[in-house]
Amino acid sequence: MLKAIILIGSPQKGTRFRPLSLEIPKPLFPIAGHPILYHLIESCAQLRELREILLIGCYQPNEALSRFIANAQQTFNTSIRYLQEYASLGTGGGIYHFRDLIKSNLSDKDVFFVINGDICADLPLVEMLQFHRENVGEKGFTILGTEATERQSTNYGCIAWDKQTNEVKHYVEKPSTFVSTTINCGVYVFTKFIFQILSETYRNNQQLYNDSSSAFTNYDLGFSRENIRLEKDVLSKLGGTGQLYVFPMGNKFWTSIKNPSSVIYANRHYLELYRMYHPERLYKQNDSKGPTIIGDVFIHPTACVAPSAVLGPNVSIGQDVTIGYGVRVRESIILGSCVLQDHCCVLYSIIAWNSTVGPWSRVEGTPNDPDPNKQFSKIEQDSLFQDGKLHPSITVIGNNVSIPGEVVVLNAVVLPHKEIGSSSKNQIIL
Ligand code: GTP
Repeated sequence: MLKAIILIGSPQKGTRFRPLSLEIPKPLFPIAGHPILYHLIESCAQLRELREILLIGCYQPNEALSRFIANAQQTFNTSIRYLQEYASLGTGGGIYHFRDLIKSNLSDKDVFFVINGDICADLPLVEMLQFHRENVGEKGFTILGTEATERQSTNYGCIAWDKQTNEVKHYVEKPSTFVSTTINCGVYVFTKFIFQILSETYRNNQQLYNDSSSAFTNYDLGFSRENIRLEKDVLSKLGGTGQLYVFPMGNKFWTSIKNPSSVIYANRHYLELYRMYHPERLYKQNDSKGPTIIGDVFIHPTACVAPSAVLGPNVSIGQDVTIGYGVRVRESIILGSCVLQDHCCVLYSIIAWNSTVGPWSRVEGTPNDPDPNKQFSKIEQDSLFQDGKLHPSITVIGNNVSIPGEVVVLNAVVLPHKEIGSSSKNQIIL
């Protein structure tokens, strides 16, 4: 028996992802034609023994989420349930709160995966499980690790480990000084024994809250008393105890999705994975009738693309999109029901649902890729603003935006439901 838990967060999370997370929960945002969650569930579905996937989050159940779950259950032939937290309980609090549901039908030897819902990766879950079974005892846990640069590592959970045994000697979440270039990917193999540790953490936290001498606690910051931070409260304590092991994922693709730029990066990698494992999902150039395709391109079957359009590399076109004559799109995601009118050009941009780009207009962002000169470099996960200024980044057009003909929109973020009057550069259009 094997289960997977995916932490999908809450509407309060995903602030760096706005305005794209204003419409739908971030884990439902489509990359390479499918929601982030779909890709994670697809990775889980490779585990033959998998019987159930539990999504834990703090979103009100809504139509988009229910429809997604119903479709995914059918596609992957697995039971998928959504468990709603009454408040944001943190990365460990939700798991603890729903412990009875998670534990049901699991024997002491059975394991379950916990996966952060804001990562995109070529997840080696089968290999990780095999590693866990062959190397880690019944009371031990495994964490998936990848490499980062020294400078970037401190933005993540850092893992110092014994290269011979893979035992984690030290775990520090977002340290202030360098600890290790191996970082936490947000994927864990746990056994039921994790609940003993979560239960101790819960009791300690309650003690802290009840202790009047602790003047400044999470509770004061507006968190629920049941909030448990898996990384800071639990993993940090497991380092050096012989209970935590790391499975390094090598050079495989991994990124967390914090800001819109990381979506363009993940889109490129998922399209590359399609090319390797599901070439049927990529659009195949049709010599006489279809558009010109460069590199990897996903086009939803309902989209209507003029034959003289040129798309790619690394472009995803959503449901019911219309693309006119002479349109050029590169390194971009065009979401459902958008209209790109004749001869417009879209580069390094995300255009959200139901938006229109007028004829001969140009929508362009600045590429924000990992530094190609630094091995293991990750994409920068800055927020859009820094020191009150807009950071040069990809261009993000919110949903229901109308861009007229013959304008240039460069390095801009346009909030939903706007009609742009003229060209704009390095601006946030509210
Ligand atoms: P930030 O840099 O602050 O974004 O932190 P982080 O990158 O370490 O991410 P964080 O630990 O906040 O979240 C990791 C994953 O857990 C994401 O998929 C979140 O959606 C999810 N998550 C975070 N907080 C909660 C919570 O309270 N409940 C649930 N169910 N999921 C959560």
